[in-house]
Amino acid sequence: MTDSSLFAPLLPPCVKIAEMDPRDSSIGALEPAEQRVVADAVPHRQREFAAGRQLAHGLIGDLGYPRTPLLAHPDRSPRWPEGLVGSITHCEGRVAVAVGRSSEVMGIGIDIEPCAPLPAELGPLVLTADERRRVDAWSAEDGSLRSRWVFSAKEATYKAVYPLTRKVLEFSDLEVFGGPMGFVSVLRRQAPPFPEGTSFVGHRAAVGGYMANAVVLRPT
Ligand SMILES: CC(C)(COP(=O)(O)OP(=O)(O)OC[C@H]1O[C@@H](n2cnc3c(N)ncnc32)[C@H](O)[C@@H]1OP(=O)(O)O)[C@@H](O)C(=O)NCCC(=O)NCCS
Repeated sequence: MTDSSLFAPLLPPCVKIAEMDPRDSSIGALEPAEQRVVADAVPHRQREFAAGRQLAHGLIGDLGYPRTPLLAHPDRSPRWPEGLVGSITHCEGRVAVAVGRSSEVMGIGIDIEPCAPLPAELGPLVLTADERRRVDAWSAEDGSLRSRWVFSAKEATYKAVYPLTRKVLEFSDLEVFGGPMGFVSVLRRQAPPFPEGTSFVGHRAAVGGYMANAVVLRPT
């Protein structure tokens, strides 16, 4: 079943969102060229890939575009049809896709994570010392989830900006400020077209055991 309960409140109306359980996806519903991409993948990867493509085809069709295979660049970022931008995310039990017209949005980044602590060894890789100090000050939230929130905020921001920068960012290249309702990611190096210091606004929510972070870049 497809719904949009998790991300819909985080996105402007011009961004279309769809979500599903990957166990309901079917690799047979994809275009042959898409099926070939995951022909040798493990079943879990085939299902999440199939769910992402099924949802994307539905949204692209809703926006009035013809159905064509949604393939990827060598770096794995999807090749959205000319005139559209979008983002795909998956985790156990949930896949989400967001798509918008590039005349209305410059970039979209969505990330879904389980509401579970980030493995302790990842904390120092993901959070700077300042970020650690700031999230430790959040009061109204399960402390074990704070690092996961920052991780997901950085992943969502990265996905929104990457199609414009084509630059791989390190976790330390983004500094996240914010609290339970939303966040701002600040770019700590230049990544053309974005100068150092650019702020990206994100929204977040937790529903049904999942946390969702979303960043939408509006034209300036
Ligand atoms: C893309 C990335 C951020 C998240 O991928 P992930 O951990 O597999 O998590 P998700 O399931 O949420 O997202 C995967 C989807 O992101 C999309 N994606 C992959 N690379 C992408 C990129 N460079 N830019 C935008 N979207 C990308 C794909 O659609 C992919 O799904 P698909 O292969 O089924 O099409 C991660 O894999 C990556 O490339 N990391 C390197 C850079 C990084 O993390 N830096 C630190 C953050 S600043």
